[in-house]
Amino acid sequence: MTSGRTMTAVAAAAATWATALAAIVSAVPASAQDQLVDPNTVRPSLDPGRTANGLAQTPPLGWNSWNKFGCNITEKTVRDVADAMVSNGMKDAGYRYVVIDDCWHGTRDDRGVIREDRTKFPSGLKALGDYIHARGLKFGIYSDAGRKTCGGRPGSQGHEYQDALTYAGWGVDYLKYDWCSTGVRNAEEAYALMADALRATGRPILLSICEWGNNRPWEWAAKIGNMWRTTGDIRDAWAGRVTYSIGIMDIVDRNEPLYPYAGPGHWNDPDMLEVGNGGLTDDEARAHFSLWAMMAAPLIAGNDLAKMTPATSAILLNREVIAVDQDRLGLQGRRVRDDGDQEVWSRQLADGSRAVLLLNRGAAPASIRVAWPEIGYLATARAEVRDLWAHRSLGRKQGGFAATVPSHGAVMVTIRH
Ligand code: GLA
Repeated sequence: MTSGRTMTAVAAAAATWATALAAIVSAVPASAQDQLVDPNTVRPSLDPGRTANGLAQTPPLGWNSWNKFGCNITEKTVRDVADAMVSNGMKDAGYRYVVIDDCWHGTRDDRGVIREDRTKFPSGLKALGDYIHARGLKFGIYSDAGRKTCGGRPGSQGHEYQDALTYAGWGVDYLKYDWCSTGVRNAEEAYALMADALRATGRPILLSICEWGNNRPWEWAAKIGNMWRTTGDIRDAWAGRVTYSIGIMDIVDRNEPLYPYAGPGHWNDPDMLEVGNGGLTDDEARAHFSLWAMMAAPLIAGNDLAKMTPATSAILLNREVIAVDQDRLGLQGRRVRDDGDQEVWSRQLADGSRAVLLLNRGAAPASIRVAWPEIGYLATARAEVRDLWAHRSLGRKQGGFAATVPSHGAVMVTIRH
């Protein structure tokens, strides 16, 4: 019975998605339309009218405190990061959200109202939100659907409406909602409850769902939140698992097959960036950032923005790669060829072009080639290739394109004809 209803809903969603896609197609120049729909990459996702709240029409861009600072977070750190985001060009490049992760909490007062830790945040979170807003940025915060956060601070279970009102009073624009200490709670119900509580405040608040992919949120969360973690925590390493944390390549392998579920307003979240945190070579960091853009992932920097090397800022500020991430069609890219250590990825963009990534997981440099039919172009096409890291056009190529890709690295191009 349920499955019959679900099938009907899926068919209806697919039809609405197709109509929406057709509207987007008709908005692009006729010359690009015949290249637009690659049946290999377009699959029906969600009725755009059923997304949570109209926010995050493109993947959110911002910064979060956790990957670099963990629980050692203070008001000063956050102010310095907000200032840096303005002065170093990240705000102009599109980064908006400044998100305080776990450990900002004090205790609840005698009426159950959550208070910030005043030793870490002496001016209070309302003042900090004002500081962030005065710089044209948006303010994000963290809580948990259980009784305690993962860092052992008070969670929101039983206090959902109360906490949502407190956050709205502080000017919060973004809530990351975690999943520790949740006991027997049902994930869909718990996240829907907080989404209702946020809506009831009347303030638009983006909801970032963080239950690590445990309950297949891609199947139910698009109508509840704006993004959902698909894996355990990211590690600042190219590959390999250490307890609950997994490397970049392991995350990629879990997030990639979920490409049909992403779209405007609702994104797969392969976790925050580790660019600039010291565990990756520059080639690895470029590949990490490129892959997140190919996967239409939220680009949430996780390093100290006030202290960046030129190589780190060049990665986070690569506007050509950011533009791929932010493409308004909102289709998540995918792997179109897997030769073991060498892979070809393609992401279809709104103007009919493709973003293509050549990924080398191997220990030595390798030549990797993409053939046009792999990205939905005719083999005879002469297509313009542009290198998004070298920032230069490579001219027109017939049939395909090949490049030498460094070990643990990527070449990222756009291909247009
Ligand atoms: C979990 C989340 C992390 C971070 C920590 C904070 O592990 O997955 O992203 O928020 O909790 O304690």
